[in-house]
Amino acid sequence: MTQLSRYPSPLRYPGGKGKIANFVKMLMIDNELVGSDYVEPYAGGASVALTLLYEGYADRAFINDLNPGIHAFWSSALTRTDELCALIENTPVTMDVWHEQRVILNSSTASGIELGFATFFLNRTNRSGIIGGGAIGGSDQSGPWKIDARYNKPALIDRIRKLGRHRGRVTLSNEDAVEYVKRWNDPDVDAAFLYLDPPYFEKGEGLYDNFYDAADHAEIATAVSALAHPWIVSYDARPEITALYPDAAAIRYGLTYSAAAKRSKGAEIMFFSEDLVIPELLPGGVTSREVDIAKRRALA
Ligand SMILES: C[S@@+](CC[C@H](N)C(=O)[O-])C[C@H]1O[C@@H](n2cnc3c(N)ncnc32)[C@H](O)[C@@H]1O
Repeated sequence: MTQLSRYPSPLRYPGGKGKIANFVKMLMIDNELVGSDYVEPYAGGASVALTLLYEGYADRAFINDLNPGIHAFWSSALTRTDELCALIENTPVTMDVWHEQRVILNSSTASGIELGFATFFLNRTNRSGIIGGGAIGGSDQSGPWKIDARYNKPALIDRIRKLGRHRGRVTLSNEDAVEYVKRWNDPDVDAAFLYLDPPYFEKGEGLYDNFYDAADHAEIATAVSALAHPWIVSYDARPEITALYPDAAAIRYGLTYSAAAKRSKGAEIMFFSEDLVIPELLPGGVTSREVDIAKRRALA
């Protein structure tokens, strides 16, 4: 498998959940959810959604993110694919441009492709993809890695073009997750499966804008628990969070991710709606071979 297909998202997402895509595939196989609609109310880099879509596990993907920059990026990639690719192709990756893009990101008037490109540019040129953080290599570019270390133009353009080719199966929205989830709570909508990856309870080192407080975590737990569709939720394993999902089956696991230039082992937890059969493997630890075996068994 090439790097390109392994990392389908054009965005680097701090603490990105790409590693759990295999677990989600396994869950979909075990629960006969392959071919259903797949929904991510907190999409971020949306790497699980894109993997499921491209590999045929999800028929359609519904991605939502409240962050205006993240939303503008996905919207540009889906609807102004050629223009966005031309911007990537023609914009030099230098500190001067980095400063310009930061002004755009922080301006209250930027929108559309201008904001989408600024979000993408800063996500790809900042340390650990932290959109509000510092540039790779430092402002004087004296570090061992330079600003363009994660900016392989042809590979990134390919990922955006691939998304553009699948645009007919992707629905993007820009709502608060609680309102968004409530809209799915209609038993008449097609079979859907939701994966929620809310902001962590313990706020990271500015990984992304995290405005969630205890009341917000409680509100989404209530909305999720009322869903008529199968769902999973992943979080940092904190007693305050487990208390919000008292009836849900849960598994704890470790996910190693790179953030703020150091590798750390997260103590994560995943909750499952009561109708789901839970694979006997840990999220983050499922190999492609294990998925292939399960898929063949399901098709036999
Ligand atoms: C933990 S990240 C999701 C990461 C994603 N699973 C990935 O692998 O890239 C949480 C995302 O939720 C978004 N977000 C924060 N508050 C939100 C809200 N109230 N409604 C919808 N999205 C929100 C943030 O912008 C961020 O992109």
